Amino acid sequence: MCGIVGYIGHRDAYPIIIKGLQRLEYRGYDSAGVAIYDGDSINLSKTKGKVEDLKKKSEATMSLDGKLGLGHTRWATHGVPNDANSHPHYSNSGDLVIIHNGIIENYDAIKKELINRGYVFHSDTDTEVLVNLIEEVKKKENVKLGKAVQIALNQVVGAYAIAVFDVNKPDEIVVAKLGSPLAIGIGEDEFFIASDASPFIEFTNNAMYLDDEELAIIRLGKEIKLRKIKDDSVVYPSIQELQLNIEEIEKGGYDHFMMKEIYEQPRAILDTYRGRLLADQGIIKMAGIDENIEKFTNANRIIIVACGTSWHAGLVAEYIFEDLARIPVEVEYASEFRYRNPVITDKDVLIAISQSGETADTLAAIKLAKEKGAFVFGVCNVVGSTISRETHAGAYTHAGPEIGVASTKAFTTQITVLTLIALKLAKEKGVFSQTQYHEYLTELENIPSKVEKSLLSNVLIETIAEVYKDSTNCLYLGRGYNFPVALEGALKLKEISYIHAEGYPAAEMKHGPIALIDEQMPVFVIATKKGHYEKVVSNIQEIKSRKGKIIAIVTEGDVAVKELADHVIEIPETFESLTPLLSTIPLQLLSYHIALMRGCNVDQPRNLAKSVTVE
Ligand code: M6R
Repeated sequence: MCGIVGYIGHRDAYPIIIKGLQRLEYRGYDSAGVAIYDGDSINLSKTKGKVEDLKKKSEATMSLDGKLGLGHTRWATHGVPNDANSHPHYSNSGDLVIIHNGIIENYDAIKKELINRGYVFHSDTDTEVLVNLIEEVKKKENVKLGKAVQIALNQVVGAYAIAVFDVNKPDEIVVAKLGSPLAIGIGEDEFFIASDASPFIEFTNNAMYLDDEELAIIRLGKEIKLRKIKDDSVVYPSIQELQLNIEEIEKGGYDHFMMKEIYEQPRAILDTYRGRLLADQGIIKMAGIDENIEKFTNANRIIIVACGTSWHAGLVAEYIFEDLARIPVEVEYASEFRYRNPVITDKDVLIAISQSGETADTLAAIKLAKEKGAFVFGVCNVVGSTISRETHAGAYTHAGPEIGVASTKAFTTQITVLTLIALKLAKEKGVFSQTQYHEYLTELENIPSKVEKSLLSNVLIETIAEVYKDSTNCLYLGRGYNFPVALEGALKLKEISYIHAEGYPAAEMKHGPIALIDEQMPVFVIATKKGHYEKVVSNIQEIKSRKGKIIAIVTEGDVAVKELADHVIEIPETFESLTPLLSTIPLQLLSYHIALMRGCNVDQPRNLAKSVTVE
């Protein structure tokens, strides 16, 4: 996820772009850049760091005059965050300038072809490949910029929101979208382009949002020309009057980042497997695994280290790796592992999971494992983070920035990456037949729409939250794959609502926690169809006979639990090993609503930091 801003009109472009980038910083903040056309040439400034760093750099080093410009705040996907990889990017001739939010999946093949034709690249980005592809098409086909963009986009696979201009035609910006958002603000003789309307809301209320596969040619003094990228058919612009304030826009219309991030999960999971999971070809492509496959298949065991929610994702991975790929796994709190003199050998693979890639204990665990000769693999969200640099290889989750302190989409995308790895290893080790493998890949592709369906329970969950919002203690129970989900559900509740909550394997209840159960105690039980269902039903009966309140997460169409529970929340059926991707959704929503009803600061709970960079 990145933020893009563009301006063409009668005002100075630079202040509009810088302010716009600051408002879009929630979309990505590892590097930023701005290009301003001053009527003669382009002034470009790019830097690793925040928009504030860009502001200082550009104001100290370049002329800021000009009525046409593009700006970008980056959340790195291809290439580490540095000055060279920051946007905007030039084409080789220096005539075209582009900003891009998204991922061009087939950039590598296109890049090789362009290199064969003499193109030179100055960054590791897919975006620089795209702008040169546009240039090549423009030259070869002798077409205008709009047409060249259209032809080029028909050759790429992936997601994008782009804005591009040609220095030889400075009255025009061409924009296009597929998968990533793009809004156009329409003023008097001026146009604004942005990832959302926040950069231009104080200048105009008139805006249009591009739909997927649409391209717009924005020319001063003319109406916007809108076309379908695939078949060139004309689309009639639908301009709407915005009635949102800036904060609402940044949060995508949600009241809190946490809720926005919960609802982003279908898209985030899809982005995680996009370009990796090729179900129709029956393959999973992951460079970090492909290049090191023997390290995994020859490993004595996999050790997973992480903290908090990432540790819970690690626990899910333990079930997946052992169940599907038959590789022994140990999951460790990084903070314990680093200090307990663990036995590690060069036949071990250590997987470190971290959303931020900066967690101090996880980093220390990595260093220790490296010293002992283990192969270390990272699963991070933040590109270029310390952990992603300190590990031998890794895979990014591509969840986009997670701003809410309570992890939501980080958890489900981590599980997605770890599932892809486990499936790949199951296939490689011959544990899975091609048919089984194919079935899994297809079901994994169905997960985003099943998450979407799980989110439909939100209204029901809000009514349940109302009933339990004043509880002082809660229990969360699950078995098998749903045990880590119970832990994660309890963590979500306690960290944002400050209600004491404990997660347990359902069968452990009899060994202690059952003493807590009385008519005041809400017990959240994950009782999905696959995975010891009958045994969980027995556990529910035990709670019922002690008058505990039962809130159950069940598979669609369940009958037995419905008869016992006080409330049931249904999720779609899926493979047992994929259940955590769905069963966690109602628990996230529940915590959100309870915290909100208790007047807590959902996005920034007391005493917590998003990234724990100290011991
Ligand atoms: O960035 P990391 O994934 O390494 O962070 C680990 C934990 O601090 C984090 O998961 C924390 O538990 C969450 N904020 C909980 O929602």
